[in-house]
Amino acid sequence: METDLTKIGMHKDQQYEVIITTMDKDGNSNAAPFGLRVLEKNEVFLRIFEGGNTIKNIKEKEEFIVNITNDPLMFTLSTTNTIPDEYLTRIPNKTNNDELAYLTDADAYFKCEVKSLKTTLREDDIKSSDVNYIKSEVVELNIKNKCVKPMNRAIHALIEALVNYSRINIVDEDTQKYFLERFLESERVIKRVGNEKEKESIQILKEDLINQGFEI
Ligand SMILES: Cc1cc2nc3c(=O)[nH]c(=O)nc-3n(C[C@H](O)[C@H](O)[C@H](O)COP(=O)(O)O)c2cc1C
Repeated sequence: METDLTKIGMHKDQQYEVIITTMDKDGNSNAAPFGLRVLEKNEVFLRIFEGGNTIKNIKEKEEFIVNITNDPLMFTLSTTNTIPDEYLTRIPNKTNNDELAYLTDADAYFKCEVKSLKTTLREDDIKSSDVNYIKSEVVELNIKNKCVKPMNRAIHALIEALVNYSRINIVDEDTQKYFLERFLESERVIKRVGNEKEKESIQILKEDLINQGFEI
């Protein structure tokens, strides 16, 4: 059984945006997007706030499916919780003698089994809430499209920063200020979830802006 995530371009210590599908104990399916970090080629990590369907189902079943897609509608419908059932394919689940579901149009999907789940109270300046830290093992990887490419936020943040950079000397002062604020947000995202090339790129851009005299 294939379990090596490098086969679908997912690498150790990188974070990707994925759609997780789960089933509740009554057989109802659920889909929602999450950031997933790769710990090893067959081990992944999730940080999920308490209160949603996904975490409830993961706690009940100790397994879930990770779907790899770049389809904007799948991300949107799974975020607004309005994904129609017919977008999902149900498959028999040998381990629990029930069913699992994956996104029919996903480029790849893999089944994970929970290895450890820790819940702690997280407090920040907005609110305090329980957060779950989940380590899971990949037990079955299915590749449906050989050109599969997992979604990563950093490249999108970098392209936005590049577009604004290319226009910064032809806009008024207020817009320049706005672009620089956006730049800082792009830099934050890239530092958190970017790969080495993306981090190097945003640093090149920052130094260039500083050399041009922008305060950043
Ligand atoms: C791209 C994206 C990534 C997300 N990543 C996370 C995450 O890593 N952890 C988390 O708790 N919520 C995350 N969310 C928010 C959940 O998807 C959201 O709370 C959702 O409503 C949970 O749905 P559920 O009740 O079906 O589980 C993310 C949302 C988006 C759009």
